[in-house]
Amino acid sequence: MKFFVDTANLKDIKKAYQIGVLSGVTTNPSLVAKEGVQFEDRIEEILQAVPEVESVSAEVTPHAVTAEEMIAEADELIKINGGDKNITIKVPMTLAGLETTRYLAKKGVKVNVTLIFTVNQALLAARAGAAYVSPFLGRLDDISEDGVLLVAKIAELFRTHNLDAQIIAASVRHPDHVTRVAMAGAHIATVPFKVIEQLAKHPLTDQGIEKFAADWVEPKK
Ligand code: E4P
Repeated sequence: MKFFVDTANLKDIKKAYQIGVLSGVTTNPSLVAKEGVQFEDRIEEILQAVPEVESVSAEVTPHAVTAEEMIAEADELIKINGGDKNITIKVPMTLAGLETTRYLAKKGVKVNVTLIFTVNQALLAARAGAAYVSPFLGRLDDISEDGVLLVAKIAELFRTHNLDAQIIAASVRHPDHVTRVAMAGAHIATVPFKVIEQLAKHPLTDQGIEKFAADWVEPKK
């Protein structure tokens, strides 16, 4: 399973890239609004900061509701950074989003269909030509449903029917989510940078480092 970082914060994106674990970035309107920056400018900055990843998701704005409106926005977004091949257009899981997906996929543009909460939604998105489908497990857990189980079911369905859309486990809240979606067959987990830091941490690792430092005696020359 690969890691994407789920943020529009440039500092966090650069940190994740620097430690060598990053395969992509996802943003959404809420994450961009939190940064208080101009949307297209920030997407361009991200694309330039992480040139070796496979995908940077830029979502159509909430103003775009019809397929025509989504396509008009997407056609502008794909020009960012000189038509960067890594840009992935993120569209919501609606009929208009599916129509936009088909249009962009035919043009060779990668699409991430977001806000997926059922297996059927994932199946439709994959059939429309999505490169990525994003089930939101944390938000399902929030309403007492099993987000990881949804990821597992989508993974099984995609295997059974040889669908090559990649599953991005999204709305990931903590390290246990990461372990469980990896075991469930997600291709990617998109996680806040804080979760990447938590994944790297273990108290016994810290204690071990402290003990090695305390025991260490400089060899005599
Ligand atoms: C994914 O692409 C979304 O940006 C994200 O994972 C949403 O997570 P949240 O439910 O924590 O807002």
